[in-house]
Amino acid sequence: MPGFTYEQSMLTCDGVPLATLAEAVGTPCYVYSGATIRSRVADLAAAFAPVPHQLHYALKANSTLAIVRLLRSLGCEADANSGGEIEVALRAGFIPDQIVFTGVGKSRDELERAVTLGLKAINAESAGELERIAAIAEAQSTRARVALRVNPDIDARSHPHISTGLKRNKFGVALETAVPLLTAMAERPGLEIVGIHAHIGSQITTIEPLARAARALAEIARALVGAGLPLQHIDVGGGVGIDYEGTGAVVDVAEYARAVIEATRPLGLSLILEPGRSLVGPAGVLVATVVDVKEHPGGRRFVVLDAGMTELLRPALYGAYHRIVPLAAGGRPPVLCDVVGPVCESSDTFGVDRELPDPRVGDRVAVLDTGAYGAVMASTYNRRPIPPEVLVDEGAWRVVRRRMSVDDMLMAEA
Ligand code: LLP
Repeated sequence: MPGFTYEQSMLTCDGVPLATLAEAVGTPCYVYSGATIRSRVADLAAAFAPVPHQLHYALKANSTLAIVRLLRSLGCEADANSGGEIEVALRAGFIPDQIVFTGVGKSRDELERAVTLGLKAINAESAGELERIAAIAEAQSTRARVALRVNPDIDARSHPHISTGLKRNKFGVALETAVPLLTAMAERPGLEIVGIHAHIGSQITTIEPLARAARALAEIARALVGAGLPLQHIDVGGGVGIDYEGTGAVVDVAEYARAVIEATRPLGLSLILEPGRSLVGPAGVLVATVVDVKEHPGGRRFVVLDAGMTELLRPALYGAYHRIVPLAAGGRPPVLCDVVGPVCESSDTFGVDRELPDPRVGDRVAVLDTGAYGAVMASTYNRRPIPPEVLVDEGAWRVVRRRMSVDDMLMAEA
C-alpha cells in the first residue's frame, strides 16, 4: 500500500512498518514515502498536460539530496531560493537551464553566481535588483534571463506569516509598475526579459486567490507582449495547500489547473509552476518516542516526546496543526493529552487536547504531513542533533541523511 496506512494495526510507509524503521535508525526520525511523491507529481503533471508547462520543485520545502534527486527523476526542474539551494540543485543533477532563482533578498554573491551559471530565470523582486542583475551581466558581457515578480495585492487567506501577495508584504513589485519597469529594462544589453512571476502565499486552501493571481499575471503578460516584449513564460509560483486535518483534499489539482489554464492559455506562453508543499508535504512523517507522561493535579496530561520544535518548527511558529497518531493502533482506550517536545519553551507543543491510546513511556507516534517544511526547518537549538531521514521507495528503504553526530555539530567551530 502506498503512503501511510495501518496494516494489522501497525502504521506502515509504502508497506514498511514504521516501527521497524524507528528500531533501525532510532527516533526522532523523518520517514518519506517515495510512492506518495511519485503520485503527487504525476497528478499535477497530468492536470497541466493540456498546455506547455514545467514543474519547478520548490527546494525550500525539502532539499534533502535524495528527495531532490527523486523529484528530478520524475521530470521536475528546480526552484531555488538561495545560493545554497542553487548548489544543492546542481549537486542533485540539475543543469543551470533547469533552475529558476527566486527570493526577496538576493545578495551580490548570489546574483553573480546566478548570472555566471546562466540560470533559466532569475525572478527579480525589485527595480533595484533588475538594475544589479543588468550591471553584473554587462560586466560579464553576457545576458541574464530574468522574470519580474509582481505583487498582485491578493489575499491568499492563509496564515499571515506565509501570505506573500498583499501590498503590505515585502514581495515583488506593485502590479501597475511592472509594464513601465520592464519596458525600460528591456533596453539593457545585460537583460533578457523572459517571464512574469507571482507567488501569493503558501498553504492556500481555496482556488479563487490562485485563479485571480493567474488572471493578473495573464493581464500583465498581455500588456508586455503588446508593448513588444516577447515573453517566454508565466510563472504562477507555488502555494497549493494540503489536507493537514485529514478531512479530504483541500484543493483539487485538476480544478486548480483548469483555472490557471483558462486564465493563461490565450497567450500561448508556457507555464512555470513552483510547487513545494503539495508534492512532498503528505509524503513525510516525523516519528518520535514518548519519553515522559505526567499529569498536573486537576490539570493537563502531558505526553513528552523525544522530538520537538527543533525537529518540527511549524506548530511553534505558526500554531500549525499536524495530526499525531500512534505507530501501534488499538489496544488501550483513547485519552486526551497535550503532546509536547523536550525543548525549554512552552511554545514547544505539537498538539493540545489530542486523543492518543493511553500513552506510556516508550510508545511511538508519527506526526503526519511533515514532508514539507519539516526537516528543512530543523535546528540544533539546545544542541540537539538534526534528525535522520529515511526514504522508502520502490520496495526498499534507506537512510538518506544520517543523524547528526556531536562531531558534525561542532565541525565548523574553532
Ligand atoms: N515559490 C516561491 C517564490 C515561494 O516563496 C514558495 C514558498 C514556493 C514557491 C513554494 O510554495 P508551496 O508550494 O510550498 O506553498 N515554512 C512555511 C512555508 C513557507 C513557504 C515559503 N515560500 C510553512 O511551514 O508553512
